Amino acid sequence: MIRRAILVAALAGSVLAGCGTALPGFGGAGTGATRANRVHLGGAFPKGFLWGVATAGYQSEGGDEANNWHAWQVAGKFPSPVGKAVDFWNRYAEDFDLAKGMGLNAFRMSVEWSRIEPKPGQIDRASLDRYKGMIDAAVARGLEPVVTLNHFVYPAWLDTRGGASGWERPEAPERFAAFSRLVATELKGKVRTWLTINEPNVLTVGGFASGQIPPGRYGYGPYSAAAKGLVAAHRAAYKALHDVDPQNRVSTNVFYYYSKAGTSFDPLQLWGTDIPLTTQTYLDWPGRQLTGFPGPYLEDFGAAWLDYLAIDYYWGMAAKTMFNVRKAYNWPVSPAQLTEACVDLYKRYGKPIMIAENGLATKDLGKRDDMWTREAFLVHHLYYLREAIGQGVPVMGYMHWSLTDNYEWGDYAPRFGLYSVDARNDPTLARVPTPAVDVYRQIAESNSLPSKLVWTYMGLGF
Ligand code: BGC
Repeated sequence: MIRRAILVAALAGSVLAGCGTALPGFGGAGTGATRANRVHLGGAFPKGFLWGVATAGYQSEGGDEANNWHAWQVAGKFPSPVGKAVDFWNRYAEDFDLAKGMGLNAFRMSVEWSRIEPKPGQIDRASLDRYKGMIDAAVARGLEPVVTLNHFVYPAWLDTRGGASGWERPEAPERFAAFSRLVATELKGKVRTWLTINEPNVLTVGGFASGQIPPGRYGYGPYSAAAKGLVAAHRAAYKALHDVDPQNRVSTNVFYYYSKAGTSFDPLQLWGTDIPLTTQTYLDWPGRQLTGFPGPYLEDFGAAWLDYLAIDYYWGMAAKTMFNVRKAYNWPVSPAQLTEACVDLYKRYGKPIMIAENGLATKDLGKRDDMWTREAFLVHHLYYLREAIGQGVPVMGYMHWSLTDNYEWGDYAPRFGLYSVDARNDPTLARVPTPAVDVYRQIAESNSLPSKLVWTYMGLGF
């Protein structure tokens, strides 16, 4: 039954996707197959395509106490404390081996500012060297590093108790640019692909509008100041990274949402049902409706400041529904819209695209209510990504979120890992393969979406 439902949905999606017009100047996936074959039987990805996983320092490293999340941990504000996370700080070599074993050729990780500059202006040489060692270990295994310079967490010294904090503060952009320059100088020649700030449009909402995550600021004032600060920080870091090495390619990865000119957003929806909305917060919000919210989004950074476009595609939502589904394991799944997302963004910006994150959560290791499995999710999304490539969109790579289960910002229940890790109950933090490992390996090793997988998971072909 389920397979049938998926099949019907997939067919509907591919018919729609097949209606698109090819964009000029790009030859597509280059398989030489007929269009019908290409659409229904899977096929090759472009030469040099980056197959990777995406990870983040705070969610996997463990052991850093100089960051702005630590005070919230000490105060017990989260359902689960972070603890050692999955101890990536010590087990990175093992994790790179797992990635290599899947046939991957890229690895997205972050370099944590709070470890490198635990106090203003004070550089921790040992941490910097540890990151250099990590990057060397990745490169030695044939994994191209994709480095995020800020993944939500920043040094605690950027926060002010009760006042303007983090990205709201006028000195934040220059401080961040100095940190970025230092890291780029140290890693020159080893790292070429950079993301300055992870999901700025999620951080502003969670940290500066609703106050659900550190620094816990809320209201229009903090939201708008942080959004402006993040744009300035990205641009200052973009410049620093290019000063260090003009070969660097730099972007920021936004949480994808479907935005068309004139999209408006009612901030009342932001809080969903379980976050108390104070009258004051509501009154503070000018006009109740804003255009371009939640931002900063691609148009706020500007094409001139993005060497490529990086999107985190979880589902093809509209801005209005972005925050209505609160738990990651309840997020909807909509692979077919990935084609349109890529085609639309390429038409608007004319830049190559990287899928910087895409993944599926389960609640612990339970089955999802909608019965999606990670392996089916992977095949469906890559099918529709390949369709975008076939329509002429230059896609650089795909980073699956994530290699292992990790700390999902306050909670360990949502599990996104290709390898599962029971961080709450297993002191050995064993990495246990899920069935998606073998599926991703077949794809990455062949640099293609094998027809057999398209048939097995989508019922298409043959
Ligand atoms: C973030 C990750 C997060 C993932 C799943 C993105 O919002 O960049 O840190 O774990 O999506 O929620």
